[in-house]
Amino acid sequence: MATRGNFSGRVGFILTAAGSAVGLGNIWKFPYLAGQNGGAVFLFIYLFCIFLLCYPVMVGEISIGRHAGLDAYGSYNKLGGPRWGYLGLFGITVGVFILSFYNVVAGWAFGYFLHISFGDLLSETDYSSFFGFFVNDILDLTSAEGLANSNFIFSAVFMAMTALIVGRGIQKGIEAANKIMMPILYLILICIIVYALTLPNAMSGVRYYLIPDLGELKIQTLFEGLKQAFFSLSLGMGTLMTYGSYLKKNENIPSSVAVISIADTSVAFLAGLMVFPLVHFLQYKLQVTEVATAGPPLIFIVLPQIFHEMGPLLGKVIGGLFFLLVCFAALTSTISLLEVPVAYLVDQKKMRRRVVSWGLALLIFVLGLPVMASQGMVPALNKLAFYKGQDYLVFISDMCDISLTVGGCLMCIFVVRQWKLKNMNEELSLGNPGYNASFLKKYLNFTIQYVCPVLLGILSIMIIIDKFFGIERVF
Ligand code: TRP
Repeated sequence: MATRGNFSGRVGFILTAAGSAVGLGNIWKFPYLAGQNGGAVFLFIYLFCIFLLCYPVMVGEISIGRHAGLDAYGSYNKLGGPRWGYLGLFGITVGVFILSFYNVVAGWAFGYFLHISFGDLLSETDYSSFFGFFVNDILDLTSAEGLANSNFIFSAVFMAMTALIVGRGIQKGIEAANKIMMPILYLILICIIVYALTLPNAMSGVRYYLIPDLGELKIQTLFEGLKQAFFSLSLGMGTLMTYGSYLKKNENIPSSVAVISIADTSVAFLAGLMVFPLVHFLQYKLQVTEVATAGPPLIFIVLPQIFHEMGPLLGKVIGGLFFLLVCFAALTSTISLLEVPVAYLVDQKKMRRRVVSWGLALLIFVLGLPVMASQGMVPALNKLAFYKGQDYLVFISDMCDISLTVGGCLMCIFVVRQWKLKNMNEELSLGNPGYNASFLKKYLNFTIQYVCPVLLGILSIMIIIDKFFGIERVF
């Protein structure tokens, strides 16, 4: 056991798990989802989802991992036999695919960081065409400078940083990196918010973000909230199971999970508080009533335009800091995604951590190439005939969403039918002596047994219907 490594203690574990949770999902997706879906109403629904669904699932995942002390496959296999082992393998595969596209988007953010801080991105005038050009600049072999500015390189460097950190092991690599990046991430976030709130028209952004708009409340809002909360907390594929397997027995799981959920939710909330004042500042500058904030345009088109408006020096500082923040958030997540297959090969095949980290990083990088090519370069990947003409990036990320909710649903069934709640409760009372007599125990047992599997089952079916048939047409 000594060779597997472990977290040094509570703080290291919480920061690392929060690092996994805080990612592109929080900074890029949450703000525009909240903006589109009724502002504070969405926030409220989101909190409710965290409380009712994500908290119990996360406690379940971590306790399975800690009890078995193995990777995702090993944990299911040890506690449930080879048939359940397949569920672990499924999760590991999903993680590999999530990382394959996540790393490409992270590479874009890294490229923007370099272009803003050290290049002249802010002298552009049309950020929409710049983005279109940028994502299709995949491999420019005509000059050394062109090559260095290709997405191929940005994405490769990002993956290499991930492999370097994961290869160094749990305490010296993963935990150490998170302990540096997470506090800086919070600091940058707070600094940008403080600055953003001083800009003209900032309060109109705050009002748009926070004043509840009940007219926006639709059944779809609820499902968007559920899906987003689940993805944002890195649930459903064994990330937290793997991290849990490095957690010491005397740590209190339920209270750690509470802190992790709060850390993740607060970054999502704060990201909105940063983005909306900025967006409304732009509307004021351009004298328009609305700029589109949905999808990739938000951070790659709208925000750079705002940094441009701030002037050359301030734009460079604030814009550079913003993309550094996005890179840190993404890197702490890519680390957690790579750790899942790495732990599998280290535990099951007894391979060397450093070797598998680099080997898997290479494989996943290659899996990301079609994602890069799907942004226009290869028309067949840009408009998938069997997927309503959407691109391969959208397709693969939708498939992963479905797999996560299915994986999470099956995990609850595993706890209840195979591993048994009694054993989970025993694991949870380690490091938490009052647990067995607590209301928390009743709450967790009830939610894992009924609420979570049912909600996740319905959610999976709803996403499948929505993605393949379009939910508006069916209901
Ligand atoms: N939660 C991260 C985000 O919000 C992404 C992430 C990391 C993830 N590990 C995961 C998502 C595992 C699902 C499963 O960006």
